[in-house]
Amino acid sequence: KPLVFSGVQPTGNLHLGNYLGAIKKFVALQENNDCIYCVVDLHALTAQLVHEDMPAQIRSITAAFLAAGIDPSKHIVFNQSAVPQHAELAWIFNCVARIGWMERMTQFKDKSGSKNAEQVSLGLLAYPSLMAADILVYRATHVPVGDDQKQHLELTRDIAQKFNIDFGGHIRKAGLGVDVTVGDEPVHAYFPMVEPLIDGPAPRIMSLRDGTKKMSKSDPSDLSRINLMDDSDAMSKKIRKAKTDPDALPSEVEGLKGRPEADNLVGIFAALSDKTKAEVLREFGGQQFSVFKPALVELVVSSLAPVNGEMRRLMDDPGYIDAVLRDGGKRARVRAEKTMKEVRDIIGFVQ
Ligand code: TYM
Repeated sequence: KPLVFSGVQPTGNLHLGNYLGAIKKFVALQENNDCIYCVVDLHALTAQLVHEDMPAQIRSITAAFLAAGIDPSKHIVFNQSAVPQHAELAWIFNCVARIGWMERMTQFKDKSGSKNAEQVSLGLLAYPSLMAADILVYRATHVPVGDDQKQHLELTRDIAQKFNIDFGGHIRKAGLGVDVTVGDEPVHAYFPMVEPLIDGPAPRIMSLRDGTKKMSKSDPSDLSRINLMDDSDAMSKKIRKAKTDPDALPSEVEGLKGRPEADNLVGIFAALSDKTKAEVLREFGGQQFSVFKPALVELVVSSLAPVNGEMRRLMDDPGYIDAVLRDGGKRARVRAEKTMKEVRDIIGFVQ
């Protein structure tokens, strides 16, 4: 079975972008894959060191995973800090990767851009190394994420490839790895090339206030996003107030070009109803937003209300959530340690 890995940071409220870009896909992938889903608490330190509500944040992401339908008895759900092998491999990757690769990341540029180097943690720069380690410590091959993580996954492939090439002889000597070709180059590979799973009708959910900006936890306007924990009234209000243009919906997907807000709302409808945008427009083409928005409200509320209710119920039982995380952490450590034993061998550490 293919091995799927993905992670979500325990920072701020989960929103519809996290749900459609990540969690809804996590649930669907359980059927035919072996899945590992991680609350990446170490990553949460990169932008802000001290989090007063760290335990509650970790439990709330875990509750969202479970409420959405992830089965922790068949798959692994855990928090990153419980498996120190992630940080160990990240250190090695820090020495494989080049500073220039990290400085080119658009997320790093966005988050550090207006600050001077004295204000930016080294962790924020090295963040993609840890992300690569999260995935590769299990040698996972498939990674469901939103479009904003695409560049980090390309870097993960670059790190895997450089490790495979730099340690090629050692990998062979340790009796590990497989022969593959990367481009035209024959390589003896230990780490696989990960495949991002990004496609779908809405790989990047945009702000409800501005169709050119990503829906984000850090947007100061709460009207810009639908939070998983919003009640039905709040969801309804945010969609009714969502920015649109005055025209009716087009009947073809091409007609959404240059209409980012319309495109976003149609994409959300499509992703929630497991349809394509073309199918949604076949139903709503020619209709005004005064008709489409109420249908969208109904769909959003009926999709998220059960998740929201189950999340609240689970959050009342932190003992259960912690037990899920402990059990997942234990199983994840066994797998991660198997890789790290081999990596230490490849490098030549005495163990
Ligand atoms: P994070 O915690 O910012 O977001 C979690 C997931 O939600 C997706 N997402 C979106 N998708 C569509 N539209 C949006 N507006 C939107 N906003 C967020 C993200 O793409 C992500 O899939 N670096 C990662 C966490 C991470 C990770 C990993 C992911 C750490 N290690 C290993 C995969 C594999 C992050 O900060 O996601």
